[in-house]
Amino acid sequence: MTGWFSRLVVSMTIRMPKWFVGWVSRRYVAGNTIEDAIKVMQRLSKEDACFTVDVLGEEISTMAEAQYFYDEYSRLIEAIISNNIDSDLSIKPTAFGLLIDRDKGYQNIKNLVAMANDHGMFVRLDMEDHRVTQATIDVVVDLHKEGLTNVGTVYQGRLFRTLDDIDYLENKLGPAADYRICKGIYLEPEDIAHSGYHEIVSATNASIDKMLAAGAYCAIASHDKPVINHALSALESHGMGPNIEDPRKNAGKPRKGKGPGYEFQMLLGVRGPLRRKLAAKGHKTRVYVPYGEKWYEYSIRRLQENPTVGAQVAKAFLMPWTNRP
Ligand code: FDA
Repeated sequence: MTGWFSRLVVSMTIRMPKWFVGWVSRRYVAGNTIEDAIKVMQRLSKEDACFTVDVLGEEISTMAEAQYFYDEYSRLIEAIISNNIDSDLSIKPTAFGLLIDRDKGYQNIKNLVAMANDHGMFVRLDMEDHRVTQATIDVVVDLHKEGLTNVGTVYQGRLFRTLDDIDYLENKLGPAADYRICKGIYLEPEDIAHSGYHEIVSATNASIDKMLAAGAYCAIASHDKPVINHALSALESHGMGPNIEDPRKNAGKPRKGKGPGYEFQMLLGVRGPLRRKLAAKGHKTRVYVPYGEKWYEYSIRRLQENPTVGAQVAKAFLMPWTNRP
């Protein structure tokens, strides 16, 4: 469902009162506070899920704003540990200042990753738009060089550069490379990215194949059956699956909270039955849990950036059987 209908849904949604957008977002956003996120995770833990938590917000305009994210994530680490929740963190590098002042942004991210490392917690650098692709990859490489190996990033199947980027990280990090692979939410220019559904699915599947062949840890982040089914058969052909010890050579000691070389990831509120089915078969499944005061700005920006999200949300409400939380 793309094109005029998606754009219509988006143009209607952004004119709706804030309470209405809030009501719609309730399903996709855990709430305003850390306590809200903890409650959601406690509930979903009963479905054998583990988590990655995102404090909503992204590109900032002054370095002072980065302090909010640093402080909030620091409190979040403590809350996750004190509530004994199986969760890691997802952060947006631009929210830490990467696009304003590279060195200070890097230092902020490093301090947080070091704090998480003290608790054996992994940190995922979400991938934002193409302006920060290389900068984000460079942060991961530099942190590993400094001995902080509890960090990885996200590759976007839709970008032409992704297959080369997999080679790049394999050369730099070997089996310590730890990816989330997704289609990519940002509608990028046509000279750097695929734009058709089928091209994006095949490019994402090709990336999954390459990551597995490279021996990297692979977190498959998709709700789309052609991607999930492809991943399931690719895993099988690499001798990977539920209750099978991580077969990757030189993968090192398994990190706390990780699956046997792979896991599946889905967004809060999206395709719960499919996630529960994967979990029931023994696959490690992780739910991406966004929360925070900036939920309104975040929801509106996401809708404007990629109108297909608006259409999916509308479909989930009009045809609830297609997407149960
Ligand atoms: P697709 O969009 O085709 O969705 C398949 C089906 O899932 C839809 O038909 C619909 O039923 C359902 N669905 C999907 N999204 C829905 C929604 N919002 N509401 C209701 N139903 C929905 N992107 C990025 O650029 N950088 C990143 O760091 C991340 N991180 C990330 C983490 C995790 C855990 C996930 C699952 C996704 C991301 N993404 C991301 C987003 C990703 O790139 C992509 O845009 C979305 O996952 C949608 O792609 P699908 O593969 O799910 O397929």
